[in-house]
Amino acid sequence: MVKVDDLTVRYDGRIAISKISVTFDDGKFHFVMGPNGGGKTTLVRAIVGFLPYEGKIEIDGVEHSKYLKKNSIGYLAQRGFQFFSFPMTAIEVVEMGRYRFKENISERRRSAMRFLKALEMDEFWNKRIDEMSGGQQQRVLMARALATESKILVLDEPLTGIDSKAQSLFYDMIERIKEKFQLTVIMTTHDVGFVSKYADDVLYINKEIVPHDKAEKVLSDAEIELLYGPKMEIADRHLTKNENV
Ligand SMILES: Nc1ncnc2c1ncn2[C@@H]1O[C@H](COP(=O)(O)OP(=O)(O)OP(=O)(O)O)[C@@H](O)[C@H]1O
Ligand SMILES: [Mg+2]
Repeated sequence: MVKVDDLTVRYDGRIAISKISVTFDDGKFHFVMGPNGGGKTTLVRAIVGFLPYEGKIEIDGVEHSKYLKKNSIGYLAQRGFQFFSFPMTAIEVVEMGRYRFKENISERRRSAMRFLKALEMDEFWNKRIDEMSGGQQQRVLMARALATESKILVLDEPLTGIDSKAQSLFYDMIERIKEKFQLTVIMTTHDVGFVSKYADDVLYINKEIVPHDKAEKVLSDAEIELLYGPKMEIADRHLTKNENV
């Protein structure tokens, strides 16, 4: 269980997210949604341990920094934060996820291969990552995140730039992997279309938590407006009214 309590993150003194309190239960698929700049990446990077923050994070009842000393959190960064213009093969990328384990070279390779296989990328094991499609790269990076064998997998907009057929396959795959490795998955997304089918829980943030009825996974019109601003038609009506004045 990841328990976030009164979390505030600032960049150069400016608040990016404010007083976020939320619990991510074990074994569930949690969606984190909200507008661009709403603080989704900031929240997940704080959880992964990459950002200083005010407030408290506990994982399985253990204080955050203590937890991170002994455990890792699988993390797939938002595109644009990833760096690929180096000639590494898929298997080498996945092996990087094994850095915590004491394995010799052949053991390490075997373990990495197991995770590539789970992502159906084993046939590409020797292919260079900078010569792969975006979707293939995402799979290899997922394999790397899983190879850490952490029980928590954090995915920051893993589906950006992936076509809609591949998106469905990706969600099915995440579900399978979640069951297979008994993971807690925290995923940021803009993908309203997949919420009701896959999310066990949805958190909406726009700097602060946007409250919504927990039982309802889909937002009401009023909540969408609160989160993303007035809808087009409302904006249009507003404009017409002003013009008439
Ligand atoms: N490294 C940084 N330095 C300064 N400000 C930052 C930094 N990273 C993010 N911010 C600011 O913090 C706020 C939250 O950004 P964040 O990237 O967390 O949003 P997001 O919800 O992930 O957006 P998107 O949907 O576009 O990925 C924004 O106002 C952004 O400009
Ligand atoms: Mg982001």
